[in-house]
Amino acid sequence: MRNFDIRNSAIAGVLVATASLSFFAAGCSSSDSTTPTGTAVSRGEALVKSQDCVSCHQDTGGKTLAGRLQPVANTAKSVVVYGPNLTPDVETGIGSWTDAQILTALKNTKDDEGAQLCSTMPSFTRLGDSSLNDIVAYLRSIPAVSNQAPESICPPLKTGDGEADGGAD
Ligand code: HEC
Repeated sequence: MRNFDIRNSAIAGVLVATASLSFFAAGCSSSDSTTPTGTAVSRGEALVKSQDCVSCHQDTGGKTLAGRLQPVANTAKSVVVYGPNLTPDVETGIGSWTDAQILTALKNTKDDEGAQLCSTMPSFTRLGDSSLNDIVAYLRSIPAVSNQAPESICPPLKTGDGEADGGAD
């Protein structure tokens, strides 16, 4: 019995070694990209689809996640929100945000300055950090589009008077 087990694991070892060799070979010959972001990006894309981020962050017929110029349909009175541009554009998107700032937006619904976002933006904490990192990788991969979504209004948090950020320090 003991001998048999040893033989078996030796065979398994050879199989594993062979498998990783061919994996390695495939990796080497496949492309000029050396980082494994391809899978993170495609997982992130699938998550963005399943969570329907486009319903709030893209106009009908608009470019991928480039933000809304039409308000998001909302039942609450006096709430008029526009999903911001999530492309890597530095001026109008989130191109200048760090990964940590994007993760904070996804988990704690706060912007890059720590200000609370309108509650229309859901928290995605339940997806877990690994999935949220995949979403960040995907957002980094989409084409930058210059498109400035209007300021959201969601009283009392954001009243539309341009002073939502009052008393930052
Ligand atoms: C139900 C609508 C809705 C959905 C679904 C939604 N968001 Fe949002 N999101 C918003 C709104 C509205 C804001 C802006 C709130 C504000 O201005 O205070 C926002 C803000 C953000 C911000 C901060 C951007 C900025 O410039 O302030 C990020 C990042 C973000 N959303 C990412 C996502 C991602 C990624 C998904 C999908 C996993 C998603 N959102 C799904 C409505 C939504």
